[in-house]
Amino acid sequence: MKKGLISIGILAGFILSLLLVSGAFAQEKEYTFKVGYGDVKFTHQKHAETAKIACEKCHHELKGKKPGTAAQGCKKCHKAKTEGKVLGTKEAYHGSCKTCHDDLKKAGKPTGPAGCTQCHVKAKK
Ligand code: HEC
Ligand code: HEC
Ligand code: HEC
Ligand code: HEC
Repeated sequence: MKKGLISIGILAGFILSLLLVSGAFAQEKEYTFKVGYGDVKFTHQKHAETAKIACEKCHHELKGKKPGTAAQGCKKCHKAKTEGKVLGTKEAYHGSCKTCHDDLKKAGKPTGPAGCTQCHVKAKK
């Protein structure tokens, strides 16, 4: 009986760790945000692994959280329109993507597109 409980505990622990691992790394390598103004490509892997930008720099909700806490999609909290202190999606993405690219450009460091139509690319018809 006791042995049974222990093995259930071990199994539950194992499943939990699998969930944690898959949760923490369940992001796409590349995203395409479909926007009427022009689609935006985002290479998650290039940013997180090649450019080695810390997760919480973008996933700011992880600041002060335990290491291993799964990151959430921005749209989980940032909705179409700004509500109180919570920016709308456009403002949140611009505030993250565009601000970082602009700042690095000013500092003369390697960066991504800062101009509107460099980041938003119209799909070829
Ligand atoms: C340069 C900014 C940036 C960095 C650095 C970054 N991410 Fe992301 N991540 C994003 C964006 C943007 C998305 C897409 C979210 C969306 O669709 O709203 C995303 C998506 C994710 C998702 C999927 C969330 C979901 O529910 O759709 C996970 C998980 C994730 N990232 C984990 C990480 C981890 C772990 C790290 C660090 C190793 C990291 N990210 C580094 C910007 C970043
Ligand atoms: C769990 C909810 C949550 C998630 C997930 C989330 N945000 Fe936020 N975000 C907030 C709230 C609440 C605020 C306003 C209060 C604050 O600054 O923390 C905010 C503020 C911001 C700001 C303004 C910060 C400043 O310094 O003025 C930006 C930019 C931003 N978020 C971008 C993002 C991006 C990009 C993602 C996804 C990679 C994301 N957020 C994911 C809740 C969230
Ligand atoms: C904290 C800083 C930071 C944030 C936030 C950030 N970027 Fe970047 N981005 C970079 C840097 C640095 C590079 C240059 C990487 C390289 O080529 O070495 C880059 C490169 C790029 C490129 C060109 C290279 C490629 O991946 O094809 C695109 C497009 C891009 N970023 C889009 C985005 C989008 C969209 C977002 C928001 C969802 C974003 N970036 C958020 C720093 C950032
Ligand atoms: C570094 C990349 C980047 C740059 C530079 C940038 N944007 Fe964006 N923009 C985004 C992302 C990412 C989104 C959010 C897409 C989403 O909500 O899925 C967005 C959203 C938008 C939207 C909202 C679309 C909608 O349907 O809600 C408009 C309009 C827009 N941008 C126009 C502009 C203009 C004008 C400029 C120049 C002043 C600009 N963007 C510069 C990445 C960028």
